[in-house]
Amino acid sequence: MQISVSYLSSLYDKEKTIELINKTDAQYIHVDLMDGGFVSHKNFTINEVLDNLKDNKKPIDIHLMVFDPIIYIEKLATLKPEYITFHLEATKDIIKTIELIKNLGIKAGIALNPETNIMELMPYISFIDLVLVMSVAPGEGGQKFLEGTKEKLKDLIAIRKSNNLKFKIEVDGGINKDTIPFIKDADIAVSGSYICKNADYQLMIDNLKSALNNID
Ligand code: DX5
Ligand code: ZN
Repeated sequence: MQISVSYLSSLYDKEKTIELINKTDAQYIHVDLMDGGFVSHKNFTINEVLDNLKDNKKPIDIHLMVFDPIIYIEKLATLKPEYITFHLEATKDIIKTIELIKNLGIKAGIALNPETNIMELMPYISFIDLVLVMSVAPGEGGQKFLEGTKEKLKDLIAIRKSNNLKFKIEVDGGINKDTIPFIKDADIAVSGSYICKNADYQLMIDNLKSALNNID
């Protein structure tokens, strides 16, 4: 499984957090962008995100928790992210948003809130590269992993198999060494506060990996 580190909640300021994430062997840095509309918090402006990541070396995984994702995408594309993911619940222009992301040479992802049924994804499922399953309510770091995620992940894996599709599955929220075994069949785990609220980021990533290796 790959690890994507969210720098939303950390012991340190953004600059130092990103620098420390870059020193680990995590596969991605996860960028949470919130608009204060789709979720009640507003964190960075696009210009702050561009500035935060100017010295970043890791592949970028962007998670847009915003209404109207289309207005953010072209600017964020200048970061050359690997993925841009937007919420199914956030826009009516799903196909248009997927096309815009893909036409910029970026992989397109759709995120699902915990209460959203995966069947709502079916009309789009063959057009996307990633499904992000929220395992907490979107909006802030440090929340508790929701148990219902396990069933959703299982159903999504079954849908992928029966339709012969190749999209990746990412799970985001409340991931730590005790919860990562529940999502062992996902492709990417996003972890924020478990890693970044500790001084030794690599040690926490190693803990996640050994929790996976110790599953019977
Ligand atoms: C929540 C964000 C997550 C969050 C993960 O809205 O999408 O990426 O930062 O943080 P933890 O691991 O603390 O739940
Ligand atoms: Zn996220």
